[in-house]
Amino acid sequence: MTETLALMAESVLRTGDARAKAARSRECAALWRASRAGEAPEIAVGTAAPPLRPARPEEPELLDPRDVPRRRPGSEQGRAALLHAVAHIELNAVDLHWDVIARFSHVPLPPGFYDDWVKAADEEAKHFGLMADCLEARGLRYGALPAHAGMWRAAEDTGHDLMARLAVVPMVLEARGLDVTPGMIDLFRKHGEDAAVSALETIYAEEVAHVAYGSKWFHFLCGRHDRDPKDVFHALVREHFHGHLKPPFNEEKRAEAGLPPDFYWPLAG
Ligand SMILES: [Fe+2]
Ligand SMILES: [Fe+2]
Repeated sequence: MTETLALMAESVLRTGDARAKAARSRECAALWRASRAGEAPEIAVGTAAPPLRPARPEEPELLDPRDVPRRRPGSEQGRAALLHAVAHIELNAVDLHWDVIARFSHVPLPPGFYDDWVKAADEEAKHFGLMADCLEARGLRYGALPAHAGMWRAAEDTGHDLMARLAVVPMVLEARGLDVTPGMIDLFRKHGEDAAVSALETIYAEEVAHVAYGSKWFHFLCGRHDRDPKDVFHALVREHFHGHLKPPFNEEKRAEAGLPPDFYWPLAG
């Protein structure tokens, strides 16, 4: 068997159809898990040549954030648009986690690094499926509404530096998810939408670990290079993340994920 983890990661990135990308993500994760559990032949990490931008479906139409229509979050249409936006974020997250594996496969890292990001990529594929199911239950589908362009920008801006990637993607962007998801859960609960509430609760519970993986491996690399984690984090976020971090912060969940207040408060707008 010649397939390596990095090549599997590349295969997810090169899959365009959204449901097929999610299915391939879950399939690759299962293969890696089986190999790590000794239930299948060992899979080497290997190397890959990931595309600059991952393959994506023809829809949704990608718009500049300023041009994406705003809908009242209390309205039925507004809630549908919110679920569509989360689906788009989750599909992007599938690619982000496989990209960290494929793009930085030349950096020597312990097997646990790959276990963590494979698990995160598996969960993002599940999250995408949950959101796509919620949309379909409302007679919509992923792709039916426009979505934000430029979500891959964080990946492109940090494609040369693993520490910058970890600082910006899990420790800033995914941490932001911890701040905003409880409000979304409340909104759907207020409207008695139990399926959306339970899907978002699954996402919320699992995203804490993704932020924690980011913090864990960021600290690991700081230790390897004998650098101060907080100072490096501030410098990398200021250089590679466009804009300020937005309070209010979910300080409790951020703490659970290994992000202390002195990491993010100095970057707040
Ligand atoms: Fe997710
Ligand atoms: Fe995530």
